[in-house]
Order: sequence, then C-alpha cells, then structure tokens
Amino acid sequence: MTNRADDHQTIITDLLSWIRQNQTVGAQWYIDEGDRPDVIPVKAAPAKAAAPVSVPAPAPAPATDKDAAFRAMCDRFVADTVALVQREAAASPRPAPDEPLLIAHDGDAAAALAALRDEVLPCTACDLSGSRKKTVFGAGNPRADVVFIGEAPGRDEDLQGEPFVGPSGQLLTRILGAIGFAREDVFICNILKCRPPNNRDPQPQEVVHCEPHLKRQLAILQPRVICCLGRVAAQTLLKTDLSLGKLRRTVHFYEGVPVMATFHPAALLRNPGWKRDTWEDVRKLRALSDALRELEA
Ligand code: URA
Ligand code: URA
Repeated sequence: MTNRADDHQTIITDLLSWIRQNQTVGAQWYIDEGDRPDVIPVKAAPAKAAAPVSVPAPAPAPATDKDAAFRAMCDRFVADTVALVQREAAASPRPAPDEPLLIAHDGDAAAALAALRDEVLPCTACDLSGSRKKTVFGAGNPRADVVFIGEAPGRDEDLQGEPFVGPSGQLLTRILGAIGFAREDVFICNILKCRPPNNRDPQPQEVVHCEPHLKRQLAILQPRVICCLGRVAAQTLLKTDLSLGKLRRTVHFYEGVPVMATFHPAALLRNPGWKRDTWEDVRKLRALSDALRELEA
C-alpha cells in the first residue's frame, strides 16, 4: 500500500525528471535552432495530488556528467549570490522608492512607467534626437523580475519604436522562451533610447544624457535581477573596461540590483559557438531570479 508521502515523492520525482528532460530539450533546441516550439516550459505547474495511481517509479532522466556539473555550479552560484544580495541589502538597505512618478501614481508601476515614457519619447538631450526616427523607450512587464538591457536601438527598432524587434530581437525572444519567459514577462530596454548612426557604439556624452532615463525606469520597475546583453551594455552600465568574459563570471550591482552579463544576441548570430555559454548564463539568471523571488515569498 502506498502512503501519502510516497505519492508525494513519486509526483516530485516525476516532475523533476520531466523538468530535466525539458531543460535538455530546450538546450538542444536552442543551440541547434531546430524547429521545436518557441516556448520550452522550464517550470511546470505542480501536478495536482489526485487519486493515488500505482505507476512504477520513473527512470531518472539520463543526466550527462556535464549536466550534473552545470547544475551543481548553478546551485552554488545561486546560493552564493543570494547570500551576497542579502549582505548588500543588510549593509545598505534600499531606500524607499523616491521616483516622483511612482509617488505621483501611488505606487502604480504601470502608470508611472507610462508617464515616464511620455516624458522620454520627445527627449532632445543629445544629438541622436536629430537622426532618430523613433525613440525606443523599452517594453514589457512593469512588475518584471528581470530587466534585460541592450546597447541601443538598431535600424528595425528605430523604425518601430520597440526594443529588440530585428533579427537579434527574434533570437532574444527564443532565448527567453528557452528559460520559460515570454517577452511580456520581462522588461526589455537599452542603455540608449535612440539609434546611433550606423549602429556605432554609444558615446560617453550620449550615455551621460540617457542614463537618467534608465535609472528612473529601474526605480519604477524595481527588478530582482538585471541582465546586460553584450559587452557594450555591460561595460557602460557597470562603468568598467573588463572584458565580457570576465564580467560574465560574477555578479555585479547597479543601484543595489544584482547584474549579470551575457552575450548579445547579435554576437550569437555571428558566433553560434557562444550559444552554449549563453544558455548556461540564462539558466543561472532564471534560477537566481526564482531564488530571489522565493526569498520574499
Ligand atoms: N540591439 C540592441 O542592443 N538593442 C536593440 O533594441 C536591438 C538590437
Ligand atoms: N563581444 C561583444 O562585443 N559582444 C558580445 O556579446 C560578445 C563578445
């Protein structure tokens, strides 16, 4: 006779092997860019404990040594980072949000963000306003756990006024799907809100003028984690010359928020060999975001 604890264990074992299997599927699909579905559910809704059914315990999904090593590394990364986040929070508690638009809108992040968007769209603080077609404010969930920050709008983004809608944006959508996020779940924006001519790197004066917009976005969004896409976004946000390789290895902080960095999807289109590392980065990102969410639950 099975007891409730055994049933519970069976369900959990089942669920875990299902998740592992799907993560592997997700990895292969994402790396090979096969024709698998766009959204690979990483997190399944827990199965309901219905009437006990006697099924043989599922064989554990075959995990390669590499998988196991990655998972162990990921767990360590999350545990270390959560501890670091807690230390940072204890050392310098985050002040109550003082973004005027958030206060004016009674803490309603969606309304505050919409109001900020109205302020930012007509910005003429730098010369890029003269050559842009559309300002690209950013888009997504005003209550997002994760904010993705790219470098600056490209041609397609400039035409449409939306972030990451060109070829690299389509890859970003697939990367998000592989960790169980829809674009609407996260918030996506850029360091610069206007397109630099010929997609050249942001210039220091442009960053000086545009960064306050980003700071206010983040003050409203209050994300749990920030993910910088590419070397330029990471170096610019973190004010450092360190290589992307170095920046990827550790967690950083911006305005008290933990920051991770990974490859820019445009770089992945040029160098598919970096996809495997990116796949690890984004799984760590998802795990960290989930862990930080659980901490507050
Ligand atoms: N590259 C970026 O950095 N940002 C975009 O929005 C599009 C392409
Ligand atoms: N070099 C870059 O400039 N960007 C990347 O994303 C990776 C390497």
